[in-house]
Amino acid sequence: MNNYSGKFITLEGIEGSGKSTNLQFIKHWLEEKDIAVITTREPGGTNIGEAIREILLNTNNKEMTAETELMLMFAARNQHLQEKIIPHLATGKWVISDRFTDASYAYQGTARGVDYQKIYELEQWVQQGFQPNMTFIFDLSIEEGMKRVKSRGEQIDRFEQEQEEFFEKVRHSYLHRANQSPARYAVVDAAQSLQNVQQQIEKYLIKLTE
Ligand code: TMP
Repeated sequence: MNNYSGKFITLEGIEGSGKSTNLQFIKHWLEEKDIAVITTREPGGTNIGEAIREILLNTNNKEMTAETELMLMFAARNQHLQEKIIPHLATGKWVISDRFTDASYAYQGTARGVDYQKIYELEQWVQQGFQPNMTFIFDLSIEEGMKRVKSRGEQIDRFEQEQEEFFEKVRHSYLHRANQSPARYAVVDAAQSLQNVQQQIEKYLIKLTE
């Protein structure tokens, strides 16, 4: 778990599920309660992590194996934890990250088929038992998620190029993980209106700040 004075919140979901919008909502909600917060993302969050992100998302990197992908995710994560996440939590700040290790299980494990044991070993090595205090899963149909991604009009990255079947596996993996350890996960129905989604989030934040 996490024994630091600050709390660590992570946001997960398929592309287009509203993580970024809701990350800002959570940040502002906590700040209104006088809680100091930093926001960050994975892969990324540090100079080294952002350089690794560029390799991971670049559509030219067609040769990348699933194992390379997994190890790059954890290389970025190690840097992120040591350089940014843990130092901030230790000073009492709360840290909200757009994605963390659940994404490695969902994307590299379930969707790409990398052995979960390998992911678990990297997780133990890099995190040594450290886990988020709470993980929000923004659950949405693949069809709706893809529609939202396309409507942004941004360039599609290496992951967004994958087919529907890949994201079905990702979605299923997140829901399965949430089912296995309900104490850490908050599953939010992201198909609802933004106002309803934020009401759902607020209920969990109230519990977390009590
Ligand atoms: P983002 O677009 O939500 O910022 O995430 C970048 C992509 O990286 C997204 O498609 C999910 C993927 N990803 C993994 O495959 N494994 C991981 O461990 C993480 C953190 C992200």
